[in-house]
Amino acid sequence: METSTTKAPLPPDRTAWWERRKACFPEARAILLPLLHDIQDHRGLVDGEAMQWAADFVGISPVEVYGVLTFYWMYDLEPRAKRRIAVCRNISCDLMGARRIVEALEDELGLECDRGGDGDWSLRTVECMGACTAAPMMDVNGRYFEELTPEKAREIVRAIREGREEVPEGPAEFAPVPANLARSWTEEPRKEEA
Ligand code: FES
Repeated sequence: METSTTKAPLPPDRTAWWERRKACFPEARAILLPLLHDIQDHRGLVDGEAMQWAADFVGISPVEVYGVLTFYWMYDLEPRAKRRIAVCRNISCDLMGARRIVEALEDELGLECDRGGDGDWSLRTVECMGACTAAPMMDVNGRYFEELTPEKAREIVRAIREGREEVPEGPAEFAPVPANLARSWTEEPRKEEA
């Protein structure tokens, strides 16, 4: 059972559903990623209080939850900006000049990287996004821009501002979960699982 004294970030029926789901796994931490997604969907972010609650719920330290939240860039610890830029900082992109891309974007946006945003834009560095052959690259609200140069990155920002370049509205969009997997996460645990 939940032992946290922190207020649950999810509605009671949803929290109860996660209690049942948690009981299906030998290690409660197995549910951490989808649990954090659910919290994010309900609150728009995973703040410090929710982080503490999730840690207590699955029996790990808040630092571990923080590590997960900051490793996977699809989670937000602060309210989302309208345009979210994520620049890959992993090895291929780093070798191909990711740092210069970040500097150019900081200058263009008037923002410091990895320090939140201004509501309109946010800029952060993330781990590999699987487009290493087109390094350096960045993602804006779920759309990839590849083989960047500092000037190309600046021009992309200008084009988005002026409506010459389109990116998805709001949060990053991800491919839908295959129906068989989605079902396994939304249906009640089977008898033999519980
Ligand atoms: S290292 Fe940047 S996309 Fe893989």
